[in-house]
Amino acid sequence: TASVDRALSAFRAGDPVCVHDFADREGETDIVYPAGAVDAAAVAHMRNDAGGLICVAVDDTVADAFGLPFLADALDHPAVNDDPAYDDRSSFSLPVNHRETFTGITDADRALTITEIANAAAAAANDPEGYTPDDFAASFRAPGHVHVLRGAVAGLDDRVGHTELGLALAAAVDAAPAAVVCEMLDDETGDALTPEDAAAYAKRRGIPYVEGAALVDALR
Ligand code: 5RP
Ligand code: CA
Ligand code: ZN
Repeated sequence: TASVDRALSAFRAGDPVCVHDFADREGETDIVYPAGAVDAAAVAHMRNDAGGLICVAVDDTVADAFGLPFLADALDHPAVNDDPAYDDRSSFSLPVNHRETFTGITDADRALTITEIANAAAAAANDPEGYTPDDFAASFRAPGHVHVLRGAVAGLDDRVGHTELGLALAAAVDAAPAAVVCEMLDDETGDALTPEDAAAYAKRRGIPYVEGAALVDALR
């Protein structure tokens, strides 16, 4: 469809896309960037215009090479019970910082962490056996300020979250298997931005807006 084509063109150019998942899932629209294209201005764009959590999704082969488990599998605490209302499980892994950051939260620090995760993801995808958790630990520390998300093993066949939708966009344009997502919230109400308001924002800003269903049809 035209909306998918526009989304792919933007992603190929390193530009953001607005992705609404499904009315019967989260019902949220995320601003999504190819991770390798995220600079400090892109982080500022996400925190100012989206306002949710800035996360970087990596596919499961990469997460395994990094040695990054699902957070819920890594923690033994009575609060840990990964049963979100909108899906079978969340995709959260560990939050990390690049070692050359200071606090890790500034726009420049988060952009460095994100672009270096994209570089590391490309390296790990090229050589999944050769890239080790120690290689990851040489460059990154946890806890940090960028949430890593793990994509489902079977991608969109298994889970249709923004995690997998973002990774499917990255794969479709042969970018590094790493996509940054941030939920769009309504500044007036604090609720998730409605799809209508998200689409209007996207139109105003010249950002492609695409439905998860269209991405699943085109990319699964
Ligand atoms: C992390 C989240 C977001 O919803 C993000 O879109 C990734 O999650 P999912 O793949 O479940 O949509 O919870 O801020
Ligand atoms: Ca805002
Ligand atoms: Zn989401």
